[in-house]
Amino acid sequence: MDFEKFCRENCVERRGTGTLKWDSLQEIFGDADLLPLWVADMEIQSPAVVREALTERVKHGVFGYGKVEDEYFDSFFAWQKKHHNVELAKENVRFATGVVGSLYAAVRAYTKEEASVIICPPVYYPFYDAILNTGRKLVTCELDNDHGYYSLDFEKFEKEIVDNKVEMFILCSPHNPVSRVWSEEELDTMFSICRKHGVLVVSDEIHQDFTYEGKPFVSSACVKGGEYKDILITLNSGSKTFNLAGLIHSHVIIFDGKLMEAYDAYIKGIGSPEVNLMGITGMGAAFRGGEEWLSDVKALILHNYDYMKQEFARELPEVIVTPLEGTYLSWIDLKGYVPGDETARFIQDKCRLACDVGEWFSVMAQGYIRINLATDTKNIKTAVASIINNIKERLGE
Ligand SMILES: Cc1ncc(COP(=O)(O)O)c(C=O)c1O
Repeated sequence: MDFEKFCRENCVERRGTGTLKWDSLQEIFGDADLLPLWVADMEIQSPAVVREALTERVKHGVFGYGKVEDEYFDSFFAWQKKHHNVELAKENVRFATGVVGSLYAAVRAYTKEEASVIICPPVYYPFYDAILNTGRKLVTCELDNDHGYYSLDFEKFEKEIVDNKVEMFILCSPHNPVSRVWSEEELDTMFSICRKHGVLVVSDEIHQDFTYEGKPFVSSACVKGGEYKDILITLNSGSKTFNLAGLIHSHVIIFDGKLMEAYDAYIKGIGSPEVNLMGITGMGAAFRGGEEWLSDVKALILHNYDYMKQEFARELPEVIVTPLEGTYLSWIDLKGYVPGDETARFIQDKCRLACDVGEWFSVMAQGYIRINLATDTKNIKTAVASIINNIKERLGE
C-alpha cells in the first residue's frame, strides 16, 4: 500500500473545524500551538459510503425523530457475526449516545450508592469518573507491567474483590491504553472470579475492530460459548471503527432478561433519548460498506506504529513501546530518559506535543505517554523526531 498517497487522499485539515482534538488545545492543555496526538479520533475521513449516506440524509432536509429500521439491525448484526462471531437479536440491543454515558448508566442501573466497582489501571480515565461521579467506591487492581507487556494478576484481582465486597467490574477489552487484547483464557479466569463473588461485568468493547495479526479479539459474550452472558453488559459502537465519534451513537448489549429489565427500568426513569438519526444513518452505512476502508486504515496504523518503534529502537533504545495488540493508541514509557514527574511538561513544553499522559490513566503511570497512531504519517514523523531530538538535547548529545 502507498501510505503517503493514502494519507494525501484521505487525511484532512481539522484545525478550525470545531473539533475537540485540534480546537480545544488552549482549554485542555493551556497552549493552542501543539501538535495534537491525544483524544481517540482520526484525521482520516470516514468511508465514502458513510459520507454519501449522510449527504443523502442532509439533502432530504428533514431531521425529525428517527426510527431504527431492519436494515440497520441487519448490517450491524452481520458485522458482529462476521468479524466477532457474536450472534445478536433485536431484543439484546439498546441504543445510546455514547459508551461513556452507558458506563454511567450501567453503574447507576445495577449498583447502589457506595457500592464498590473495580477497574484495572492504567485504564481509560472516564472509567474513574463513572464510578466517582456517581458516588460509588473506586477499587483498583493495577495491571502488572513486564517491560511494556501488561497482564492481570488474578490472585490480586480476586483479593481486591473480596476485601472490598466489589459488585461490578468495568473491563476495557481491548484495553486502552496498554493495548492488550485479552485472550479467551484470561477473560474466562476474570469472569469465573466475578461469578464466584457475584460481580457483574461491564465490558467496554469500543476498540474491538482494532486488533492486529495473530491477536484475535474475543468478545466477552463469546467466552466459553457464552457462559457468562448472564452477568454481562457489553458496550460497543462503530464510532472508533469508522471515525464517527461526533455522531454520538452506540450500543448497549444485554443477553439476560432480568439484566435487560433493570436497564430498561433505569433508562425509563431518566427519560433518555432514543436514537440519533445521523448516527444510525452513518453507522449503518459503515457496517454495510466500510470493511475495505477499515483494512486500509489498520494498515496505516501498523505502518505508523512500525515506523515509530523502529525510530525509537535505533535512536533511543531505552524507550519502551508497548506491543500493539489492540486499539490505535500506542503506550510509551519514557522513564529511561526523562524522570516520571517531568514527562508531562517535557512532552508539552519541549516537544510541543499534546498527548495523553500516564497520570491520566493511573497514579502509578507517571513517565508514560499515549500517542494516537490513527493520523497522517507525517504527524507521527514530526512527533517522533521531536521526542528524539529533545531527549538527545537533554542528554547533551
Ligand atoms: C475504552 C473507551 N471507551 C469509551 C470511549 C468513548 O466512547 P464514547 O465516545 O462512545 O462515549 C473511548 C474513547 O476513546 C474509549 O477509549
